Amino acid sequence: MFTRYLNNCGRPESNKLGRFVLKSMNKGHAYIYRWLLGNVHLPEIGIVLDVGCGGGALMERILNEFPSIKTYGIDISDESVRMCGELKKKHPGRIEVRKADAVSLPFPDETFSLALSCESIYFWKAPDKALSEIYRTLISGSWLAVAVETSDKNKARIWSDRISGMTVYSPGELRSLFCNAGFVHIESQMKGQACLVKGMKP
Ligand SMILES: C[S@@+](CC[C@H](N)C(=O)[O-])C[C@H]1O[C@@H](n2cnc3c(N)ncnc32)[C@H](O)[C@@H]1O
Repeated sequence: MFTRYLNNCGRPESNKLGRFVLKSMNKGHAYIYRWLLGNVHLPEIGIVLDVGCGGGALMERILNEFPSIKTYGIDISDESVRMCGELKKKHPGRIEVRKADAVSLPFPDETFSLALSCESIYFWKAPDKALSEIYRTLISGSWLAVAVETSDKNKARIWSDRISGMTVYSPGELRSLFCNAGFVHIESQMKGQACLVKGMKP
């Protein structure tokens, strides 16, 4: 049962367990959302992309705190997309959520003023392609910030050995992914095992 719970973190199922996991992550990741939002400049206007948006709590926080910003979310899980869709009623016209894989974003070039991703990159099959896609959809001068709760491969084996398709990246590997995708001014910071990396599209 515990393994099934953990695997729902990587791609929440369309059932009670999937919904429970999404709601738990919405609460449990609040400190990472605060960390992310405290480390990026939110544009006055524009669209913020959340890649692997899960239950949508990061987007909801942005919608509540920054009334002139729109948010778009993508997620590979039907249940994540369905749950985030509920935010449309609260914030009509300010949120769009699509089912998509991070490696192929259904948006035109230069759409977003900021891109964020929390606790999702572990599950992307080709993170190099995904970062190139995010780069493509960002407006020049805009930032991507990625946060993960764990970046210590050894300590994280307790999770990565149980969750299928989970890869833990070290801070250096995360910075290299940003660099290879073309981002500049790359910075990273740690909080225990958690790591936040950000970079700008020139
Ligand atoms: C651990 S959850 C984090 C969700 C949310 N960002 C949060 O902080 O609560 C990981 C999310 O990434 C999504 N995901 C996994 N692989 C993905 C991919 N290749 N493209 C887009 N989303 C993906 C999962 O469906 C899941 O909703």
